[in-house]
Amino acid sequence: MSLKPSRREAIAGAAAVAATACTTAPQLAPAGDIHRAGGRTLSRIAFGSCAKQSKDQPIWDAINAAKPDLFIFLGDNIYADTRDPKVMADKYAMLAAKPGFQKLRETTPVCAIWDDHDYGEDDAGADYPMKDESRRQFCDFWGEAADSPRRTRDGIYAAHMFGPGGQRVQVILPDLRWNRTPIRKLDLGGKTYAAWSAEQKAAGKPVPGPYEREPDLAATMLGEPQWTWLEEQLRQPADVRIFGSSLQVLADFAGWEGWVNYARDHQRLFAAIREANANGLVCISGDTHYGELSMLDLNTPYPIWDVTSSGLTEVWPVLPPNALRVGDAWRENNFGLIDIDWAKRELVLQVCDAMGAARISQRVGLDTLMVG
Ligand SMILES: [Fe+2]
Repeated sequence: MSLKPSRREAIAGAAAVAATACTTAPQLAPAGDIHRAGGRTLSRIAFGSCAKQSKDQPIWDAINAAKPDLFIFLGDNIYADTRDPKVMADKYAMLAAKPGFQKLRETTPVCAIWDDHDYGEDDAGADYPMKDESRRQFCDFWGEAADSPRRTRDGIYAAHMFGPGGQRVQVILPDLRWNRTPIRKLDLGGKTYAAWSAEQKAAGKPVPGPYEREPDLAATMLGEPQWTWLEEQLRQPADVRIFGSSLQVLADFAGWEGWVNYARDHQRLFAAIREANANGLVCISGDTHYGELSMLDLNTPYPIWDVTSSGLTEVWPVLPPNALRVGDAWRENNFGLIDIDWAKRELVLQVCDAMGAARISQRVGLDTLMVG
């Protein structure tokens, strides 16, 4: 695809910025990029998570070949893992320099949310001390407008609307980091998780993750202002809603981070969908370093699907349990795809491998996603 001069100049400028070490993350696109796509009817949405900037990222070839109408970054878009602004900026610059990523930005509208590693640190929450600077770098890098509320409110949560009435797609991106109260940890007897899990393994015992479900109903990932915002978003008219969560929404294993760890947030999400009559919602998620499909239809307004795609570069050595998993997980690099057949009123939810082949695929009729 040919580029208008201004666009080409912006990308060339970003590459130049990427080559210099600085504490300002490069801006890859003119602010408002995502908003210019607002009038388009979306038929193919791609998404992914967990892209380590120090690795080659050949999967972008398959993603670009799929020609999505929109790409959603679901977090861990870089592995900043720092309290040093310069380190974070340098890592954004490394992502900016990836050829496949540059091609995506030239051809495809993108939107993004962060997870722990690009927010700042592994499994970080509200007490991460560099979050104001991290928010500034995130908003600069992803082309957020100077007056965007994402730059000033309690987190980078955002919602976007695409397409005309009858084909309207809403993308909702909650921020699960900025306000997150401390996660409940297993009692490891004072040992590090690495030491404790090695002992468990040597003793032939199961090795869960380091966390467990938090029964305290005051614990939250979103915080009250974001909940008010989310409930308002769910009341907006839309035909398809993509709930883009950095963490898995449904998977029922609490050993690693997920919505299941925060009991009240988890139940409140389903209640909010029901109360808002928010039809047509499917979840997409990242973080795990494997891809899988989950479904829950007990005490939910309608069958809730969660397509997890992770990672663009990362894999995980062990597959945690998930009683809500549908079919098999895909444990190599992957990206997600949602095809919308507006004539049939049907979604095809997919997890695709690094060559672009669908490894998980599920058809979901829009008429099954209605509050009864
Ligand atoms: Fe993560």
